Amino acid sequence: MSTLTFRTATAADIPALVSLVTSAYRGEVSKQGWTTEADLLDGQRIDPDGLLRDIERPHSRVLIAERDGQMLACAHVAVEDGAGYFGMFSVRPDLQGGGVGKAVIAEAERVVREDWQQPAIRMSVIDVRDELIAFYERRGYARTGIKKPFPYGDERFGIPQARRSSLRSAGEGAVSENWTFVCALGEMLPGEMRTVFDEVTGTPILVMNYDGDFYALEDRCSHEDFELSSGNYDGDEATIECILHGAKFDIRDGRALCAPAYSPVPKFPVKQEHGGLWTRDDRG
Ligand code: FES
Repeated sequence: MSTLTFRTATAADIPALVSLVTSAYRGEVSKQGWTTEADLLDGQRIDPDGLLRDIERPHSRVLIAERDGQMLACAHVAVEDGAGYFGMFSVRPDLQGGGVGKAVIAEAERVVREDWQQPAIRMSVIDVRDELIAFYERRGYARTGIKKPFPYGDERFGIPQARRSSLRSAGEGAVSENWTFVCALGEMLPGEMRTVFDEVTGTPILVMNYDGDFYALEDRCSHEDFELSSGNYDGDEATIECILHGAKFDIRDGRALCAPAYSPVPKFPVKQEHGGLWTRDDRG
C-alpha cells in the first residue's frame, strides 16, 4: 500500500470536503465508522461558506490526507487565542480504525508545533462522547474544563486499544504475575495483531500472530513516536510498515528494514498460559 500524503486544501476541494465530512458524521453511511453522530444529530455538519473562509484566512489550514490521489481524511488546523486549534476531523467511514486518523492528528500537531510555533493545541468535543474524550486523553490531551454551548467540535477516529476485557474469556481466575493478558488462545489468528498496555509499566505492546507463532514489539516506531499498530502488518513477510513515513520492521526481532528508521523496535516475550496469550515489557 502506498504512503499517505498530506496537502493543503484549496477552494476547488470544497465539494469533496463537504462530502467527506458529511459521510463521516451524518446519515446511514456514517454508521460504518465510529465518528458517526447519526443517532445524536441530524442536518448539515459543515457549511461550505465557512469552509472557504477557513481555507482562505491566514493561520488557518485545511489538511487533506490522500493515498493514490484519493481523499481519505481531512482536518482543520488554525491559530486561535494563542494556541493551535484542531477541528473538522473526518476519516472516510470505511477506513476508520485503520490508522489514517492517527496520522492526520500527528500531521496537525506537527503543523501547529513546527510551522506556527504554538505551545499547545485545543479542540472541542461533544461531552456525551466519553469514549472519544478518553481516546484523546490517551494521546496526551487534557480537559480544560471549559464548556461551550452546542454546537461545536467533535473529532473522532480510530479504535480503542484492546484492554483486559477479553480476560474473562480466558477462564476463571486466569492471572499471570507481572504479565499482561493479550487475548484468549485462538482469538488471534495468523496475520492478526492486537495492542495491549503493559499492566506494570504502561508500555504499549503490539502482539502479532505470524503463521501460528506469536511475537511482541513495542507499539512505537523507532523513527518518531508513532504507533506501529496503525501501519500495515504483512502476515506473509513478517513485517510491519509504519503508516507515517513508511519505515519497515521485522516483527520477529524488531530490526529496522528500511529508512527512515535505523534503530530496532524493542522486542518483548510472549507466552501461552491459562488458556491465554500473555506478554510483558521485560526491560526491567
Ligand atoms: S514515524 Fe514511523 S517511519 Fe516515521
